[in-house]
Formats: sequence, C-alpha cells, structure tokens
Amino acid sequence: MKILSASDLSRDLRSRLKTRLKDHRVGLTVVRVGDDPASQVYVANKIRACAEVGLHGQEVHLPATTSSDVLKTALVNLNENPNVHGILLQLPLPAGLAKNVGLDATDWISPAKDADGLTSINQGRLHQGRPHDGPALAVRPCTPAGIIELLKFYEVPLRGVEVVIVGRSSIVGRPAAELFLREDATVTVAHSQSKDLAQICRRADVLVVAAGKMGLIGREHVKKGAVIVDVGIHRGPDGKLCGDVRQSEIADLASACTPVPGGVGPMTITMLLQNTVDLYFAAQSQRSTSPQGNRI
Ligand SMILES: NC(=O)c1ccc[n+]([C@@H]2O[C@H](COP(=O)([O-])OP(=O)(O)OC[C@H]3O[C@@H](n4cnc5c(N)ncnc54)[C@H](OP(=O)(O)O)[C@@H]3O)[C@@H](O)[C@H]2O)c1
Repeated sequence: MKILSASDLSRDLRSRLKTRLKDHRVGLTVVRVGDDPASQVYVANKIRACAEVGLHGQEVHLPATTSSDVLKTALVNLNENPNVHGILLQLPLPAGLAKNVGLDATDWISPAKDADGLTSINQGRLHQGRPHDGPALAVRPCTPAGIIELLKFYEVPLRGVEVVIVGRSSIVGRPAAELFLREDATVTVAHSQSKDLAQICRRADVLVVAAGKMGLIGREHVKKGAVIVDVGIHRGPDGKLCGDVRQSEIADLASACTPVPGGVGPMTITMLLQNTVDLYFAAQSQRSTSPQGNRI
C-alpha cells in the first residue's frame, strides 16, 4: 500500500505561496472561542504555517463565555480591517454558543475574506459549480480542497470512478462531494443512518472517511485496490495520532492511503494559506477594476 504523504506537495505549494507573497503584506486572522485543547493546537499550527510562507497570521482568542453579539462584533471588525484579508472561525464553538448560533456565525464573516469557504454565500457558489478562481471566486473549504489536490498530485484517476464519502458535514463531506463531482466522479455520501456501510464502502475506488470515529473503517469496508483518504484525527489509547481507518488491517488490500498524521491535516493548512492569498489577489484585482472596490 502506497502512503500518500502530503509532505512534498505541501512544501511545493507553500514555497510557491512564499514567492507570490513577496512584496505583499497579507493578513490571516483565526478566531478561536473557548479552550478546546485540540483547537488550540490546530490554531497554533495554522499561525506557524503563516509565518513559514510570509503571511501575517494572528489569533484572536475569546473566552468560552463569549456571547453571540460579542463574537459577531469581533468578526465584523475584522471584515472592516484593511490589514486582514482572510478570516477563519475555528470550530467547534463552545457548546452554548454552538447551540445558539451554529454555523450562522460563519455568515458574519465577509465572503470576500472567508478563508475557510464556509459562509453560505461561498457554499452556495460552490454548489452552483462556480470556479474557485476568476472574478466569481467560490472559496473551496480547505479540507476537501486539500484532498482533491493530494489525489491529483499522486495522479489518482477521478473521472468516472466510484467515490464513497463517509460523513456529510458542511466542512468536509458535503463540499467534498461537490468537488469530486467536478472531477466527473460518481459520488455516494454515507452517514450515520446509512444501512450496511461496509457494502456501500466496498463499491469505492476512492473511499474518503470523515466520520470522526476512531477506527470505524476496517478490512470489511475496503475493495481490493481502493485508494483511501483518512480524514479523521484522534489520539489513540497509546497516545499516538490515528484516523478513522484501521490502516494496519487494509495494508494488503488498499492500493494507497493517506497517513495520519501527515496526510489530510497538512494539506488542510496549506489550502487555508492558499485561499487567503487567492482572496487577497482577488480583492486587489477587484479594487483595480471597480470604483467601489468592494465585493461581497
Ligand atoms: N485532517 C484535518 O485537517 C481535518 C479537518 C476537518 C476535520 N477533521 C476530522 O475529520 C473528522 C470528521 O470531521 P467533521 O467535522 O466532518 O465531523 P462531524 O461534523 O462530526 O461529521 C461527522 C459525519 O460522519 C457521520 N458519521 C458519524 N458516525 C458515523 C458512522 N458510524 N457511520 C457512518 N457515518 C457516520 C455523521 O453522520 P450524521 O450526519 O448522520 O450525524 C456526520 O455526517 C473528525 O475526526 C475531525 O477531527 C480533520
């Protein structure tokens, strides 16, 4: 089984971003609410990656008791800050806030600064099949975009193949389905209510697992020769990071699999940097062609 490591591609894409950023001051702000330990680590990694390519990354950390009004004000202020070109609201929000506002909170971010592609405008554009470059920019959510780029890098065929995605979240499963459709794949999305998950998964030439359940997928779910994308991230009982797939079980069955760590995770961060840089240059070109210079 080939290991689809993100290292080479990620290094190459980041070095290209560094070149594009020469002589430009581009800012990405990550807003984190509360003290979820995993989010703290993820945000620190994102800020570190910004520095690596010459992006000005900063974190705004709000307490877990933050009200929806305060969060909204913080995001609106960032929308209006000319030094900020990309904004990401780190999810999950603390339980109370999540219950009150849920994904609506992402709509307080201007679509023109939506580095994670989660606003309903950008998701709408994505599901209309709009391109992710050019004037009607549909920002691709980072994790699915990273998955597609990684599979293309390894020349995994996508046209006409059966792709099964386990998980239907707005962050991973749903936008991934859309991006695979664009590649002319035949896409099935499975979820917690799907009947006979193993049988559905065994149809897949490319199986993308984003269920957030450690070790959910094993030998019985994998067709011989399938390519597996393991999106899940968990801390196993031995303290090591692992995914949703029992990778040791499928080593002689799958043709390739993304590692955890070192696969989808780094690609997600690279796509965040790329989205921010794309948004910055889209805003620049908009400013030079429109008298108002503002694009929603
Ligand atoms: N590597 C990265 O950079 C990265 C980025 C994002 C997420 N992740 C990881 O990816 C995983 C998924 O993230 P998420 O935000 O998409 O999670 P999520 O919002 O919790 O969604 C999980 C999805 O999986 C489905 N599911 C749960 N249990 C299932 C089961 N037993 N059988 C079939 N489907 C099942 C759920 O179905 P229902 O809709 O029916 O509930 C849901 O659609 C998590 O481990 C997360 O940490 C990693």
